[in-house]
Amino acid sequence: MPECSHYCEGAAQLALGAGFFRPESRPSRDLGVLLAGVLGEGALAEGPEPAADLSVLDLMAGCGIRSLRYGLEAGAQLVWANDADIDRLPWLRRNLLPLVERGCRLQSTALTAQNLLARGLLAQRRFGVVDLDAFGCPSALVAPALEAVSFGGVLYLASTDGRSPTGHDRRSAIRSLGAAARAHPASWELALRLQIAVVARAAWALGRGIRPLFSFSEGRTFRTAIQLLRRPAAREEEQLGLLAHCHGCGEQFSQSLLTLRQWPLCGCSAEHCSDGAGAGPATPLSISGPLWLGPLQHAPTLAAMQQRAEGLPAAWLARSSRRLLQALHDDPGLPVRCWPMAELARRLAGGPPATDALLAALRAEGYVALRSGVMAGQFRCNAPWPRLLELAAALNR
Ligand SMILES: C[S@@+](CC[C@H](N)C(=O)[O-])C[C@H]1O[C@@H](n2cnc3c(N)ncnc32)[C@H](O)[C@@H]1O
Ligand SMILES: [Zn+2]
Repeated sequence: MPECSHYCEGAAQLALGAGFFRPESRPSRDLGVLLAGVLGEGALAEGPEPAADLSVLDLMAGCGIRSLRYGLEAGAQLVWANDADIDRLPWLRRNLLPLVERGCRLQSTALTAQNLLARGLLAQRRFGVVDLDAFGCPSALVAPALEAVSFGGVLYLASTDGRSPTGHDRRSAIRSLGAAARAHPASWELALRLQIAVVARAAWALGRGIRPLFSFSEGRTFRTAIQLLRRPAAREEEQLGLLAHCHGCGEQFSQSLLTLRQWPLCGCSAEHCSDGAGAGPATPLSISGPLWLGPLQHAPTLAAMQQRAEGLPAAWLARSSRRLLQALHDDPGLPVRCWPMAELARRLAGGPPATDALLAALRAEGYVALRSGVMAGQFRCNAPWPRLLELAAALNR
């Protein structure tokens, strides 16, 4: 094993080795470890069942940094660290020694995630946290990974496939997500919603329900932490649906698959019809889905994570992770219609209005309007688009 300098993050100190590692992904590790800690405290428990020991399956562990932090910071009593790359195994074993010294039950393997999950299924093993930090799109592993999550436990999923879910490769989106993905101004959010839909369908097929706990992206990797529930919540199926966007006028509509019907006319289509120019829409709607129309974040869980962070050494949570936690806490991800302020600016003479003033004006009329926690510079709102433009224009005068 070549020598390598040590890297410190949170309570972990370890050698990175020569394989893939991104220091910039720290917020994803900070949030995952905090969430695991909250889960270990029993704070996410659904029913009267006593909280079991926290167990973590780190399917694509790389150098083992997550496994080490799950043990040291979240107090996991059992950690299974796996990476298909056999060259990682000596690094994993060495890096995770501090867990053994602390009495944590440790397994380290060099299996493909597919192989490991198949063995786990045969042995009926389940874990509180299954961390699937994949390269590319993880859809093929979602169902077997869910089988490895205990009820009330969490699947923490990452995808680095940004092209399919953002409308840049429509054929690939159909193959990997079973969905239409079109260009959309809130493209990262669309990608997250498509990913959650894959998990929802797999969980429902197993007779289970889901609760997204947090979802975020920096445009490169799309991450969702999803709690597996023993059964679907009432009306959970209504959350699967379609999102339509008109590139002509900017309007957006959503519909649940359960009540799917004709789309309403957007502003430019209505104009087209009243001109007598034709019965069809002037600009065809770009329709994406099926995707998850429900909340992206679960504020009580995020609040519990923030509270837990208060009692931990400050250095365990990067400042950027703290900011991310707050932004996600403040935006549940609903209403689903989301626009960049820059799009308003393009459509209005005089640029965009001040975001806070616009949101306040919309709320004063009884609409739900808030900043997006997923994409900076975006806001979400359930007001009709023409009214939104009127209010924004009035604020500009
Ligand atoms: C994104 S990296 C993991 C990074 C790590 N979780 C971290 O936070 O630093 C993905 C890892 O998955 C491993 N890998 C790729 N395909 C795999 C598979 N089918 N099963 C298990 N591991 C796999 C790679 O060797 C690589 O180390
Ligand atoms: Zn239109």
